[in-house]
Parts: sequence; C-alpha cells; structure tokens
Amino acid sequence: MSDLYPVPEGFAAQANVGKADYERDYAESVRDPNAFWARAAQRLEWMTPPTRIRDVSYDRGDFRIRWFADGELNASVNCLDRHLATRGDKTALVFEPDDPAAEPRHVTYRELHARVCRLANALRSLGVGKGDRVTIYLPMIVEAAVAMLACARIGAVHTVVFGGFSANSIADRVRDSGSKLVITADEGLRGGKKVPLKANVDAALKLPGTTSVETVLVVRHTGGAVDMQMPRDRWYDAVVDGQPDSCEPERMNAEDPLFILYTSGSTGKPKGVLHTTGGYLLYAAYTHWAVFDLKEDDVYWCTADVGWVTGHSYIVYGPLANGATALMFEGVPSYPDASRFWQVVDRHKVTIFYTAPTAIRALMRDGDEPVKRTSRASLRLLGSVGEPINPEAWRWYHEVVGDSRCPIVDTWWQTETGGILITPLPGAIDAKPGSATLPFFGVRPAIVDAAGNIQEGACEGNLVLLDSWPGQMRTVYGDDQRFFDTYFSTYPGMYFTGDGARRDEDGYYWITGRVDDVINVSGHRIGTAEVESALVLHPKVAEAAVVGFPHDVKGQGIYAYVTLVAGETESDELLKELVAHVRKEIGPIASPDFLQWAPGLPKTRSGKIMRRILRKIAENAPDQLGDTSTLADPSVVDSLVKNRQGA
Ligand code: WTA
Repeated sequence: MSDLYPVPEGFAAQANVGKADYERDYAESVRDPNAFWARAAQRLEWMTPPTRIRDVSYDRGDFRIRWFADGELNASVNCLDRHLATRGDKTALVFEPDDPAAEPRHVTYRELHARVCRLANALRSLGVGKGDRVTIYLPMIVEAAVAMLACARIGAVHTVVFGGFSANSIADRVRDSGSKLVITADEGLRGGKKVPLKANVDAALKLPGTTSVETVLVVRHTGGAVDMQMPRDRWYDAVVDGQPDSCEPERMNAEDPLFILYTSGSTGKPKGVLHTTGGYLLYAAYTHWAVFDLKEDDVYWCTADVGWVTGHSYIVYGPLANGATALMFEGVPSYPDASRFWQVVDRHKVTIFYTAPTAIRALMRDGDEPVKRTSRASLRLLGSVGEPINPEAWRWYHEVVGDSRCPIVDTWWQTETGGILITPLPGAIDAKPGSATLPFFGVRPAIVDAAGNIQEGACEGNLVLLDSWPGQMRTVYGDDQRFFDTYFSTYPGMYFTGDGARRDEDGYYWITGRVDDVINVSGHRIGTAEVESALVLHPKVAEAAVVGFPHDVKGQGIYAYVTLVAGETESDELLKELVAHVRKEIGPIASPDFLQWAPGLPKTRSGKIMRRILRKIAENAPDQLGDTSTLADPSVVDSLVKNRQGA
C-alpha cells in the first residue's frame, strides 16, 4: 500500500522494541498473560512482589478485575525513591512557564522527592490518611505533580479536577468523592490570562454537599489577591515549610486505589473512574517506555494538562516511574504566538513530543513559517492522542514539524484504560496516517456488529476488548453496578469502548470516533446529556437536545437545540445568556458552538428524541435525514432544517 510510512532504519536499529520483539512478545502476551505480566511486573519496585498475576472475569455473576492482588508497593517510591541512588541529580521535571520571558525551572529527582515528602508529612499532620480523598485543582505547575505523588505516598486517593472546570463541576466531584482536603492555587495563568482558581473553589464549597472538605491548601502562584477563610484555608508554603524532607511511604496493596478521575459518559453526571496502584502504574510505565522508545537522556514533553488522564499517565506516573525527564508547560500553543511549542522544543532540546490532533490542526492553519523559523533538530519521535487524527494533519505533523525524520505514534486509549492500548511501537510497526495501527502487549481488540458478533478480517463496527490488561479501571467510584452496566452489559463477556473502528486488510485499526452520546471536543470528552442537563437547569428552557458536528479544528463541535418554556421569547440576548449559563455550569470547554431555537424536537411517537436526525441537520446533510415518517410530528424537521445555524 502506498500510504505506508515504514519504520526508519536508523530508528529501528536503536529501538527499545523491534519488529521481531513485538511479534514474539505480543504472541506470548495473549497466549500466556500470567507469564508475560509476571515478567513485566519486575519493572516496578515491590515491597512484596506479587505471586498472583491475573484474576479476571467479565461475567455478570462472577465479575472481577484484579491484577497482582497479593503484591504491595507504593507508587511514589517507584516514581522517586528508587531513582535517588542512580538519578538523584537528574532533572525529573522541567517547568516552562506561561510567560516566555519568565525563567524555566528544573527540579531534580532528589528535590522532587523532598518536596513530595514535605507535602506528604503536611497532609498527614492535617489528618489525611490512607483511603481519604483529596481534590487537586491546580494549574500546570510542579506542585500539581508534587500533590499527586504526596497523596500516593500516604495512600490518599487523589482526584484531579481540570483547571478549566467551573465551581459547579468542582462541587460535583467533591460531593461524589467526599474529599477531605482540596489543593488549589491563588490563580492559574494561561496565555497571559488569569484563571481564578481559589475563587472557583470558594464558590464550589458554598454549594450543597461539599462539607466533607475540612482544609483548603492554597499555593501562592501568581500572587493575586484571594479571600482566605480561616481556619479552613491554609497557605501551602506555611504548612509545608519545616516539614521533614523524608516521609515513610504507606504500604499499598496493588489493588488499593491510586486515584479517581472523572470523565463524561453518554448518560448522567461524569463518573469517577477508579484506578488502582499496581496494575495502573506498571501499565503506565511499560507503555511509556515502549511506545515512546524512552532512553535515559530523552527530554520528553506531553502537552496535556494533568487534569486529564493523559497528564496522569504520561506526564506524571509513566515518565517518573521510568526515571525520565518530563516537561510541564503552563501555557497554551498560541501564546505569545503560533511558534511557542517549537520554541519550547528548542529551548529545552525536547526529543519526544506528544500532543493532540486539535493542536496540530490549529497550528497548521497558521502555516509552516512559525514552525520553520525554529530548529526542532532535537526531536526524534512525535505522538498524537485524544481523537482521530486526519491524514492531512498527520502528514503536516510528519513533514513540517518532524522534517520527515520522526516516526509518529498515534495512540488510542481512554481514561478507563489507564494507558495506551492501540498504537504503533515506533521501532516495530510501520505507520499509516490516521491509523492507530496495532494493539499493545496483552491487548485483544475485536470489532463486533450491533448484535455483538465478532467480525473477522477487514471490517467495520464497534470496538471491544476481549480481555483485561493491568491498567484497566476497576470500578466507577461508589457505583460498581454502573461500571458493569456501562462497559460490560452491551456485549456480554467483552469490554465495550464506546468507539467505532475499522480494521483493514493488514489488521490495522482505524478509530472512527464515539458511537455513543459522547462528543469529543478538542480531545475533551463531553456528554451530550451533561450539556442538556445544564441547559434545562435554566428557568426559561423547557427542553434541550445536544449533538456533535464535525469541526475543522476541534474535531467535533457542540450543537444545541433548545425549546423554550411557553411564553418565553427567543432573542440573541437569551442565546448568549444560555451559552454563558453552560460555561458556568460545566466550564468553557462545554460551550455550545451553535444554539438553535427549536419550537419542537423530532420525536418518535413514544417520545424519544431522534438524535440521528438532529445530527444530520447540524452536519448540514438534510438529504441524509432518512425515514422521518415514524415521527410524531414530521413537520418539525422542515423548520429545523430551514433555521439551521452555522456555515
Ligand atoms: C478518543 C484520552 C482516535 C476515543 C486518552 C476515546 C482517540 C476517547 C484517540 C477517550 C486516537 C483517544 N485516535 N480516537 N489516537 N485517542 N481517542 O477518556 O474516542 O479523554 O474513546 O482519554 O478519545 O478520551 P479520554
């Protein structure tokens, strides 16, 4: 096939995993997962090495997912202590501030260890212990990693909330997790703009159901004024200063929770995805080493925010468990201009760069010049994550950013999977633009039809996973039933990903996008139901239906249809008010791109909204509406088509 980008010979020669390794180890990993993962587990430092490896059943009556269940370890020890003897003076984290004129900072493993221990001691002194939940709402600063690792050290379960979420979203997550303590900062800084983090926490903690929070630690970051409410609020520096810089790590069972991270699904409120200690950490570390072909002297940069799973696995846990040097960037790709990413690459001699297709597409629009004015000679590997990458963006990334020299790893995975599941290994698997290619070790993808029949050969359908892998989520926090129902009931005996996929004649997977009611906006998951619930909370809204539509830069945009309460009048002011209302309820990432007044919505006679029709209208494909004769009132469709918003 012409559109194949073979592994460059030089890359193959030095790769951590070569073609023969991949084929042999993959075959073993699915033939004898116990032997394979027992060996892989030796990558971690265990307090008690596991003797039980895989213990999994996806059957309803006998459901369980357990890995390394008799092993004991501490994640922070694996990310810090075990590097001290050999890598104590190596840079663990490079901090690149939002303001390009401000000084970057380098934090060695020794310093990071001390900072984590001080905070861990402080948390213990504030009464936080094993199993307690801690909410982290911080900008992309070193303290975010310190906070996560400090929780891990004392066995507290962190739940990081993305700094772009609103007070309501923080409150939802605090309420669901029952957090005892919140770690935040005075303000964040992104693209020169301040984000009022502490004020958002204050507003969140005024909302009902958040009284579990006893303490709020505030990092002084911008120095902006904040309202400190004593005795609840404490300055981070004040509680950390004077704490000893060593701290006895908690002995954790491999299956003890490490963190909860909320993510959107097709129904209801975001769910708390729970990951445990041993399997997650091993999977994050192993994939990070193999997929990014990590070498001792690499400078690795993942542009994600720690508020998302990509930041958890591939800024903090994977890289630090591997003793890597990882860059944390506080800013945005477009500030002060479209050359920023590449200037940061040059400044820190970044060798491995991992970003999202939405960023690539946005930068592509600004042309080649902002890229070409930088050297990027240090780069050797590029990665993509979060949404399907269109072949045009892939080629631009390859040719313009990577000067046709660097392999690209298009990594498919999910918050639920903990780490990368389908991806090229850059020294082993030839790439095809737009394809996530082949499964990682131990991963058994399959494509099923609507009835759940496994398809063979080249085919298209819904993507499922036939077996477990160590990084798999263990439950929805506090709701085992929802976990089972969401992922294991659609196709009994299989994990359903919610994604559609195609498999080509070479066995390569091409992810086609979500097949459920989740929209992927700039690589961020948003449930249509969440946006709808936010809209109907507004007193003037009677009903709302939200769908995704293709968007050139964001991948998908949000399109909302709104029916007003009888007697209310449609107006541009109200439209703006509703968009602002969604931002307030959820956060700016959930703002509808378009909002259309809908005097009526297309419904079946049993009252079910026909989203398929709404999606086609939003996509401007009125010729593909299909059969509308089963609608209770087919005439509503014509009026919606006529008044469609957007280009
Ligand atoms: C999508 C992000 C195509 C997919 C790590 C998945 C992708 C959802 C890719 C998970 C990719 C992620 N190609 N689609 N390489 N990576 N996705 O939980 O729809 O934020 O189900 O995890 O993003 O998003 P999440």
